Amino acid sequence: MTPGGGEQGVGEWAQYDHGDAPDEGTDDVWSAVADGWAELWGAVAAPVWGPLLTATGVGPGTRVLDVGCGTGELLERAARDGAEATGVDLAPAMVRHARERVPAATVRVGAAERLPFRAGVFDVILAVNALQLVEDAGAALAELVRVLAPGGRVGLAGWAEGARNDLDVVERAVAAAYEEDPPVDGPLRAPGGFETALRAAGLDVVGSGVTDVAWCPADADGLVRGVLLGEDPATQAELAPAVIAAAAPFRAAGGGYRLAGAFRWAVARAV
Ligand SMILES: C[S@@+](CC[C@H](N)C(=O)[O-])C[C@H]1O[C@@H](n2cnc3c(N)ncnc32)[C@H](O)[C@@H]1O
Repeated sequence: MTPGGGEQGVGEWAQYDHGDAPDEGTDDVWSAVADGWAELWGAVAAPVWGPLLTATGVGPGTRVLDVGCGTGELLERAARDGAEATGVDLAPAMVRHARERVPAATVRVGAAERLPFRAGVFDVILAVNALQLVEDAGAALAELVRVLAPGGRVGLAGWAEGARNDLDVVERAVAAAYEEDPPVDGPLRAPGGFETALRAAGLDVVGSGVTDVAWCPADADGLVRGVLLGEDPATQAELAPAVIAAAAPFRAAGGGYRLAGAFRWAVARAV
């Protein structure tokens, strides 16, 4: 099964905004890949955590909510910084991973568009590589604002435009192998995309930036499984040659790969 019944795997969904994002069943799609996400993708955004946590002022005692927390790596970092960490994710298997990784955190199953929390209870709300997957980002941001405490801050981050990411080269090759059109950047990936969304939610943007990231699968097997996350083994085997060929320019010493890229981020405060 692939997201939305389409032909692209969750690996591509890691990066792209899809207008046809499914509502029902999204949790199952992400639950099915939770183990692979933890193994191959969970820390790819790590370089942006520092700028986000600094710009949102996370420290000891800060009540932090991570929306679309996945397997909990950012929650772990926030908890280590002394925050009172809470996560929410649509996919029960992602939530199980996050709970195991961060026993001190509260992690709940829930949708960004209908957060299972009372109004005004979080000082900081983060969403990393998640908002582009939500069908109605405006509705989700309204929910974030609802549960944000007076004077609180929202920090968003996600993949920058495809042209800044080596992964884009590989994903274009996969689309070509499927005889599909190349992936198209969604609005949140463009310069100013997060800032526009935050302002539309009535927030005051106080900081933004672009941070270099790198995805470094240890070998060709990890590369193929990561790019084609969510695809069945037969499809992975069929497309492996195209993925490996496209990633050839990004081979690193020792048999692994290094695909450079960038995340955009923006932080805003409640007015
Ligand atoms: C690309 S992963 C990113 C996970 C994590 N934030 C990270 O940086 O590793 C997207 C996550 O968002 C979750 N998700 C997708 N749609 C969601 C929604 N509407 N509400 C809450 N979580 C959602 C998925 O289950 C998945 O765990």
